[in-house]
Amino acid sequence: MLLRQCLGNSGHIAILSLHNQSRYQISDNNMNNYKRNILITGGAGFIGSHVVRLFVRKYPEYHIINLDKLTYAGNLANLSDIEQAPNYSFVKADIADLDDMRHIIRDNNIDGIIHLAAESHVDRSIRDPFTFARTNVMGTLALLQAAREYWESLPEKFEGKLFYHISTDEVYGALELTAPQGIESPFSTKASSEHHHAYGEEFFVESTPYNPHSPYSASKASSDHFVRAYHDTYGMPTLVTNCSNNYGPYQFPEKLIPLFINNIRHRKPLPVYGKGENVRDWLFVEDHARAIDLIFHKGKVADTYNIGGFNEWKNIDIIKVLIRTVDRLLGNPEGYSDSLITYVTDRAGHDLRYAIDSRKLQKELGWEPSLQFEEGIERTVKWYLDNQPWVDRITSGDYQKYYEEMYANR
Ligand SMILES: NC(=O)c1ccc[n+]([C@@H]2O[C@H](COP(=O)([O-])OP(=O)(O)OC[C@H]3O[C@@H](n4cnc5c(N)ncnc54)[C@H](O)[C@@H]3O)[C@@H](O)[C@H]2O)c1
Repeated sequence: MLLRQCLGNSGHIAILSLHNQSRYQISDNNMNNYKRNILITGGAGFIGSHVVRLFVRKYPEYHIINLDKLTYAGNLANLSDIEQAPNYSFVKADIADLDDMRHIIRDNNIDGIIHLAAESHVDRSIRDPFTFARTNVMGTLALLQAAREYWESLPEKFEGKLFYHISTDEVYGALELTAPQGIESPFSTKASSEHHHAYGEEFFVESTPYNPHSPYSASKASSDHFVRAYHDTYGMPTLVTNCSNNYGPYQFPEKLIPLFINNIRHRKPLPVYGKGENVRDWLFVEDHARAIDLIFHKGKVADTYNIGGFNEWKNIDIIKVLIRTVDRLLGNPEGYSDSLITYVTDRAGHDLRYAIDSRKLQKELGWEPSLQFEEGIERTVKWYLDNQPWVDRITSGDYQKYYEEMYANR
């Protein structure tokens, strides 16, 4: 079953083999030649694909195994440029299947796990919270348990092992928007842009108590707690990072930035929740992947790091930047797409402001965003405009139905 699914979806990519002693062992790679065997979950998704690409290219001495269920959000086309690499393998599996997780981790002698697989879209979590609990909570628990059982069975036990869990700033809840006109941000980095605003005096720090509001953030919060509990209870080496909103190439076009680029291009309405006053911090996805690489190798076990862009924006201002950029790149006159903005009923329980303080990571490990937001947006818009077939494949079929239900009739 697993084998057939792999072949069907990935063709020539290294697959789970029936010929080896175990049907869960990756066939094309001699694991013993590699310095490390690293399992990256959710590698066919948006952030995961950037992390897989970075690790496959940067560490030819590591065997990178991408485990993904290929839900609507998983897309192996995101990795077509590296799928032939000798140190890359793909396995189609569900993280909530404890037995499969046991076999995959054991049979491939996994010593590091970077866990990104999740249901990730807040709007979907409002419609279907159970799927979020199943994947994000039970799936994380199954992965933790399988890793613990295997690592505890080894003579060296947890030595040289790491379970690194990727989470979100949304677990902290919402901050007040005490400065709606914007004040100067107290943070600066080499990538700070001219738009250097904060919309309140408070920021999420690593010790901010969890206070999630959406089923998505509640499920991520719960999974974070399980990861920490596995360290505190069993001594398992774990790490958690909480990151702000990512943007960049390969993001599923239900999320704000790719959705709006695509709609502007096709002259479709731009559905803005409420008045567009909600504030988010934005980080270019490759900078998140760089942070994950650094923390995986240098982070303190059992610690937590916030990762953010030092880059707060109101949704409505982002939308204006996107309109300006897309219109300019398509050769449209200034203001051509302004009339597409359409205000729709706000999302239930919509958190007003997320703002993250990632100075701990900056101070302790020397990480900073490398791109100014304007530069990152330019690269992102160009990528979506240049890769229309990628967008078209995704926005056909089921996606259309979902889109109509979510936005068209509000
Ligand atoms: N996108 C953001 O802005 C952001 C910010 C902070 C943290 N995060 C976290 O980063 C991680 C990745 O986010 P993303 O935006 O890349 O998400 P995504 O939805 O683009 O990708 C998720 C991937 O997980 C896979 N997946 C889903 N359920 C699975 C299951 N049961 N078993 C195996 N694979 C499964 C999907 O097929 C998909 O490839 C998530 O854990 C998310 O909570 C995302």
